[in-house]
Amino acid sequence: MLFIANWKMFGDFKSINSTKKVVNLSKTKKYKKIQIIYCPPYTLLDKFLKITKNSNVKIGAQNCHHSEKSGAFTGSINADLIKSIGAKYVIIGHSENRISGDTNRIINLKIKTAIKKKLKIIFCIGETLREKRNNKTNLILNSQIVNGLKGIKKNNNIIFAYEPVWSIGTGIIPKTKNLEKQVASIKKMITKVWKLKKPKIIYGGSVNPKNIDELKKISSINGFLIGGASQNTKNFIDIIKKTIN
Ligand code: PGA
Repeated sequence: MLFIANWKMFGDFKSINSTKKVVNLSKTKKYKKIQIIYCPPYTLLDKFLKITKNSNVKIGAQNCHHSEKSGAFTGSINADLIKSIGAKYVIIGHSENRISGDTNRIINLKIKTAIKKKLKIIFCIGETLREKRNNKTNLILNSQIVNGLKGIKKNNNIIFAYEPVWSIGTGIIPKTKNLEKQVASIKKMITKVWKLKKPKIIYGGSVNPKNIDELKKISSINGFLIGGASQNTKNFIDIIKKTIN
């Protein structure tokens, strides 16, 4: 099971201290088998790397620039820089970045650079409310998968994060049955592109300690990408404990 904390544009030096509790939890026997990954803002990557040193908690960035080489890209960070600091993961294709200009083509380039730098990728896909209402969910997800992975060979280091845009930050989650069905369709779409026996698919969108009991019932889900609730250590730990118990 994967528990990925997406801190988005939140967090200061002080807020990191409580995450030591998560690091300690990860060292206990019961939780040794799970994978916890923190994706803080770039400014906190180094601090997080220090706190999680000698533990199984891994660190990732929330995005990367599509250029493989360094260059005149003010304000940007590429996979090379992320790798060089010691982070192991990167989120690519998050809807909040798709909204601000990341097309499937750019996302494809980003995935390619991240693979070259041997970063593991959390590849986000998801439909908007409008697309869902127009019955375009599968069309959109398929296009995000096919175009995002264009020209990329089968790769086990990509985690597919299904995040319906209408669920992110809204408190609304898909009905269990619908989510189960959607995950099965996504699996099929991935298998059409790559013959992966068991693609890793996680769910993201308003995961919290209250709805986790429902979400964890879906055995085809390999974990969760958690935004708001992960910024509160107590809530993050609650989610982990309720899932594993
Ligand atoms: P949320 O965010 O848990 O706050 O809905 C999830 C995400 O955007 O990754």
